[in-house]
Amino acid sequence: MTDRDPSDGRRTLAERRGLETRVYQPAEDSGLLAEAAVEHASGLVLEVGTGSGWVAETVARETGARVVASDVNPHACRGASARGLETARADLLAPFRDGVFDAVLFNPPYLPTDPDNEWDDWMEAALSGGESGRELIDPFLDDVGRVLAPSGIVLLLVSSLAGFDDVVDRAERRGFDAETAVQESYPFETLSVLLLS
Ligand SMILES: C[S@@+](CC[C@H](N)C(=O)[O-])C[C@H]1O[C@@H](n2cnc3c(N)ncnc32)[C@H](O)[C@@H]1O
Repeated sequence: MTDRDPSDGRRTLAERRGLETRVYQPAEDSGLLAEAAVEHASGLVLEVGTGSGWVAETVARETGARVVASDVNPHACRGASARGLETARADLLAPFRDGVFDAVLFNPPYLPTDPDNEWDDWMEAALSGGESGRELIDPFLDDVGRVLAPSGIVLLLVSSLAGFDDVVDRAERRGFDAETAVQESYPFETLSVLLLS
């Protein structure tokens, strides 16, 4: 993964969305995830893909939960740590122990992306969900049940661009009941937070 100089003239998804180029900054999707998590999360909480750490910090402040913030991006981990969060650099759920988290939160990279338009920088990793939009969502759903405590829950941000029904279908095949905790529609997509239990 490179820290590409954005002045080189190529336009990434990040630049098209007017975002900075190393760490995803809070946006509408972050706000929806935080809203659902403040309502439903408690105990020991893991935020996968914490980005700026804003969601994790909000949940910790508003609920008093102990929140662990993780990301594959070392710049994100440094920023989250600077907010005073417990932070782990991790690829999805790989290093976490079985059966420990009362809630797992994830606002995944979900934009469907043509492989010919991938630029291999950190903002691409924050935004691109591969061709289907679900290249990070699917392995997350396949493994998240492992790290949940009994009665643990998952709050997963899902965009209509990534195929809401496909995500629900995979979650149900993994044994979860799925309900929509919060939903907002925008001109080009509908964002939902799925509550999986
Ligand atoms: C859409 S951003 C969300 C950031 C933040 N949670 C928010 O809502 O503002 C997705 C985040 O997932 C992280 N990410 C991408 N691939 C990952 C992986 N394999 N494991 C962990 N985090 C990953 C990105 O670095 C990015 O910070």
